[in-house]
Amino acid sequence: MSMSNFNPALTTSWTKLKDLAEKAPRINDVISEGRQFNQRPIILEGLSLDLSRHGVDESIFNSLLELTEASPFSELRDGLFSGATINITENRAVGHTKLRTHSAENESALNALKDLSERIRNGTMRGHTNKVFTDIVNIGIGGSDLGPKMVCAALREYWHDAIQVHFIANVDGAEIRHLLSSINSETTLFIVSSKTFTTQETMLNADTAANWLSKHLQLSDPQSTNHMIGVTANREQALAYGLSTNNILTFSEDIGGRYSLWSGIGLSIAICVGFNNFNGLINGAACMDQHFQSAPLAKNMPVIMALLGLWYGNFLDVQSHAIVPYCERLSLLPSFLQQLDMESNGKRSNRAGEPINYSTGPIIWGQTGTNGQHAFFQLLHQGQHLVPVDFIAIRKDNTSSPTAHRLLLLNMVAQAAALAFGEKSTNEHKNYPGNRPSSILLMEELTPFNLGMLIALYEHKVFTSGAIWNINCFDQWGVELGKKLTQQLMNPDQTALDKATLRTLESLGPQD
Ligand code: F6P
Repeated sequence: MSMSNFNPALTTSWTKLKDLAEKAPRINDVISEGRQFNQRPIILEGLSLDLSRHGVDESIFNSLLELTEASPFSELRDGLFSGATINITENRAVGHTKLRTHSAENESALNALKDLSERIRNGTMRGHTNKVFTDIVNIGIGGSDLGPKMVCAALREYWHDAIQVHFIANVDGAEIRHLLSSINSETTLFIVSSKTFTTQETMLNADTAANWLSKHLQLSDPQSTNHMIGVTANREQALAYGLSTNNILTFSEDIGGRYSLWSGIGLSIAICVGFNNFNGLINGAACMDQHFQSAPLAKNMPVIMALLGLWYGNFLDVQSHAIVPYCERLSLLPSFLQQLDMESNGKRSNRAGEPINYSTGPIIWGQTGTNGQHAFFQLLHQGQHLVPVDFIAIRKDNTSSPTAHRLLLLNMVAQAAALAFGEKSTNEHKNYPGNRPSSILLMEELTPFNLGMLIALYEHKVFTSGAIWNINCFDQWGVELGKKLTQQLMNPDQTALDKATLRTLESLGPQD
């Protein structure tokens, strides 16, 4: 069988796993009988993965490993790191791990980012009236927004005091208008972040910013000034937009949007926390890359996380997965991971373009604890859906108080225990069935390095799952139809529209 039409559901390990799922052991039993697949946390530098609360024994785990070995995983992992054309539907290599190496090509892009971010931070690059920049606005959406915004929020402790970084993504004009009413045009710099430099929302917001600069600074051509920078893989388009050649950072076409925070798209991060810290983030990711390539599969963090996801999704019919960081600074992690996982693995055809008959990526959702405990945890404990949880916490947090931090961590441990072991009661309302799995990812401290490891861990988890499912993690055709229809709706000729759409359009009335 050719690997591009590999069907995991036709392997003997898949059949074995189906049988094992019929009599899936309870978490409690595998622990008390000492049959658990991975009894000790896996530790890599300042990040540990505690796998104690899964009803997965050696036989299940070994079958999952066999499935991995039968799949195109190892061929694709080699291809990822060697620059092979593994994004077959777009005929591209996949370059984000290359951004974490010291190749000559990468060094020159990194140096450009370093230079630009430092000139903005130290005030040598200034605005039209010779004032230093105090407000940086990243205009971008999807991967050109979620990664940098999440990282900047997570690394708040490292911020440059004199510079505020803002993020505008949505085409909801109220957002940008609200922001513009609170900042000063003389000291504001816009970064237009867009791989394609054609994204509708981003270009409209960029126009709004340019018009605002024109009006307030009496500029006829604000795009060509230091107030507007572009970060893109489409330099021609950025030049056509009017940006100055010196104010464009480029990156390669083979960097997917959701994997792009390591490229020039991370400019807002470098301005916010400084280039050294940005580099620390990259080094953390490189450390995870190394682990992913060299650790045996049975001790490989991203591989294990992917295998657990497969076990739940393909054999226990689980449809969603919750991400619950016990750290407010990581509050944007669930939405970042939503794009990373759901845009990569929400697929219905294999790499050969054939429809597939097994489920792929889960619905990713979540929010921080303890807040989530007072919102959706009821369903996690007693609802009818089985939702595996990734708890994420910081062991040592000097930015909190010892009492609050201890309480935060104890809450997380209590939730993991309550989910896994439950409690019996004769009153059915107070019966907690337990047997609900979770993993705990514990970071020693919330440093750029550890955060880089965490992000790369999830990137590789997503990659591994996709490789075993034999899908292409690096395209996103599913989002194109909606974009095309929006264009169609903007066209005054609406003869081709279906009745339901016409009726809804009517209810919107004409544009104000
Ligand atoms: O519509 C989805 C998407 O293509 C994402 O994959 C991407 O991150 C986002 O739009 C923004 O694209 P761009 O960086 O080209 O503006």
